[in-house]
Amino acid sequence: MPKVTFVNEKVEIEVPEGANLRQEARKAGIELYSGIFRYLNCRGLGQCGTCRVLVKKGMENLSPKTMVEKFTMTFHPLTTLAVIGQEEESRLSCQVKVMGDCTIETRPGYNLSGENFWQKPYPNK
Ligand code: FES
Repeated sequence: MPKVTFVNEKVEIEVPEGANLRQEARKAGIELYSGIFRYLNCRGLGQCGTCRVLVKKGMENLSPKTMVEKFTMTFHPLTTLAVIGQEEESRLSCQVKVMGDCTIETRPGYNLSGENFWQKPYPNK
């Protein structure tokens, strides 16, 4: 059975292969939502973007991004801002099927202190 490690909580759980990451995290008592979004979320439909996590290891062991996930990450205003600088490791936990071991960071912050697209120099300079 795949192992999922939650780095912030220092918890490791075993889940059945193909299990939904959001559902398994909630079963284990892991909080995926920040603040009021504990109550105001889309309940796993992939439309609110508030269940976003960072995959620190094992992205290759997760199901590919769904169309709904890609759409929400690209066009949902809050999610699009949150993903900047973390595009490669951001996933919506409600859209992820766990196929192997992975390491997850829940409730990631905005990457406001890192390098952002508005801080990069123009390509011709
Ligand atoms: S719960 Fe809304 S996008 Fe995952």
